[in-house]
Amino acid sequence: MRVDVFFAPSLVTPTDVHNRVVAVVDVLRASTSIATALANGARAVIPLASSEEVASRSKSLERSEVRLAGERRMQPVPGFDFGNSPLEFTRDAVEGKTVLMSTTNGTPAVLAVQGAKDIVIGSYVNFSAALGMLRAGLKAGSDVAIVCAGNERHFALEDSACAGLFVQHLSAKYAKADLNDAAQAALVLNKKFGTNLKRLLRASAHGKALVEAGFGDDLAACAELNAYTVLPVYQDRQITKVATERSR
Ligand code: MLT
Repeated sequence: MRVDVFFAPSLVTPTDVHNRVVAVVDVLRASTSIATALANGARAVIPLASSEEVASRSKSLERSEVRLAGERRMQPVPGFDFGNSPLEFTRDAVEGKTVLMSTTNGTPAVLAVQGAKDIVIGSYVNFSAALGMLRAGLKAGSDVAIVCAGNERHFALEDSACAGLFVQHLSAKYAKADLNDAAQAALVLNKKFGTNLKRLLRASAHGKALVEAGFGDDLAACAELNAYTVLPVYQDRQITKVATERSR
């Protein structure tokens, strides 16, 4: 039984995710925005590799049914309905809609683990729901991988600490699980910040950059532990909401 963490998608090989239950973590901000959109009634979020792909895919769909979302250098892509701020994905804005999304790190991370057995989108806002899926995977005999989206192919403090919180809970229940070195390091980071998530996000390079770019309010939204019970699962090239015990 293994629980491994990968600090960036570039560190993951197909073997690392094969037959595993995988959580993709991009706390700032794609995982949080995806969880928020689905919690607020979006029909699906479709992660795409580029903003060009978002624009071209939207042409094959009824315009009133879709919303275009994405950022480059944290700023909304010109002509899209939303950027990547979780505060934009309100019920009024997304209920019943399919969100086509491309972000710098988050959506490529989801696409990078496509060979996994199951893929869940994890963040602080839907932590317990995502944890439940990872626990169920271990219980059923599958190994777990937690893949951090990172920041422009580099380590991201907030994703790694969130991965550490997953590892803490999983290893408390499955003490015999083997942890790779990154999982052990993630545990240390999680311990350093504990549940002071605002402090964590303010300390991270990406958090600082978001504040600088005028997205300071997003940090508070991304730090709301278990704000939603939503379980976003990537299957058949789209992310949809799977009902959990608590959300039924
Ligand atoms: C990403 O996917 O790269 C991030 O969510 C960037 C951001 O919008 O903060």
